[in-house]
Amino acid sequence: MKNIQSVKGFNDVLPSEIKKSQTIEKTITQLLNTSGFSEIRTPIIEYTELYQRSIGDETDIVSKEMYSIKKGEDTSITLRPEGTVGVARALLENSLLQGQQKLWYNGYMFRAENTQKGRYRQFQQIGVEVYGISDPRIEIELIYLTQKLWQKLNVFNLVKLQVNSIGDKESRKAYTGALLTYMKDFYPLLDQTTIDKFERNPLRILDTKDLKLKEMIKDAPKIIDYLNEASFNNFNYILKSLSELGVDYEVNYNLVRGLDYYNDFVFEWITNDEKSQNTICAGGRYDGLIDQLGGRSTPAVGFAMGIERLIILINENSTFNIEKNKSIYICPLGEETYVYALQIQEIISQLNDWTVIINAENTSLKSQLKKADKYDVEYSIIIGSNELLNREVTIKDMKNGTEQLLISERDLLSYFKEK
Ligand code: HAM
Repeated sequence: MKNIQSVKGFNDVLPSEIKKSQTIEKTITQLLNTSGFSEIRTPIIEYTELYQRSIGDETDIVSKEMYSIKKGEDTSITLRPEGTVGVARALLENSLLQGQQKLWYNGYMFRAENTQKGRYRQFQQIGVEVYGISDPRIEIELIYLTQKLWQKLNVFNLVKLQVNSIGDKESRKAYTGALLTYMKDFYPLLDQTTIDKFERNPLRILDTKDLKLKEMIKDAPKIIDYLNEASFNNFNYILKSLSELGVDYEVNYNLVRGLDYYNDFVFEWITNDEKSQNTICAGGRYDGLIDQLGGRSTPAVGFAMGIERLIILINENSTFNIEKNKSIYICPLGEETYVYALQIQEIISQLNDWTVIINAENTSLKSQLKKADKYDVEYSIIIGSNELLNREVTIKDMKNGTEQLLISERDLLSYFKEK
């Protein structure tokens, strides 16, 4: 019988890789917690209509990448393709939009995309959403926060920041009109499917990967020329402040993002690798989302980063210290010592930075120490009947020398505290 394999695009994270993931998550969430952001957890399934109303019917995500299940005659639910909209729904539903909210989330998202390196059907995002602040200072704080994160993760020299402003709804409408007029001259050179796609979602042509289209839009009107005064001033204020902070950026007038809810400032941190999926972290302002979902207009900004892409970047280019606890292997010998071994494990677990593993089989000392070697522990604790009788243990340093030391149970904590 053929073995059953995992579903394409849905990957395991095996124990050998999990330490790296955990260290990265801890580094990111620690910075977020200490910068005044709180965690929020929302369900991985929402009503399909929620995404249709907010991400946009013509976007790739909504038009072809959602995992939706029909429930009854006219209800459909969807595995979340991203986190922003679910958080918006949760804040609205729980009346949490009066003041300000600074939130983060960490979870799996689902998109039925063509898989390739860095692009999966289940992928992990850590995201940040800030509500209630219209001042563009918050964009600056978020960008600076992400830069700090790249420094902590030792990938700062591998990523670059691209920014743009896509203005408000009216500016975008005027700009879209100009883009449509400009592209009309090229229609005779395009097939009907491309024209239809362009007319359904004109802005997306700006970040096309198609070389022929790229050439055509080289001299297309730029969105920056269509911004109203407030949008233009905000954008310039952000750019000026980033320069003052020493944050390097590149203005990319073709950066429009693949979700419809954005307005004004948008950004992406990308790697230099043009070939693979090179956007590590992306986001922007989305003041219209709550309004679109039926709430009172509320300013909002956020971003999300792809954890798998971050791990690929770190694996291929960088040295990143994975946190590893120091560890101890307990070898209980004979019939009577196992319960005492469990008690010793409990004592040492008071020191949070030690991992204590117990041998669960009644085997010889030699065989137990062999296992300790396999676990690559710093120390072994040997418990024989004498040790049990005297409430003490024998400690063996597994890295340096063969010397063994008899220590009373009372002194265990202070012994390992100093190690
Ligand atoms: P997004 O650009 O669709 O934005 O996704 C954000 C990040 O998630 C990407 O830059 C990438 O690192 C990662 N990502 C996206 N799709 C995949 C995939 N199929 N496989 C692996 N990684 C992927 C959003 O999702 C917005 N909700 C971000 C946001 C938050 N905007 C405001 N707040």
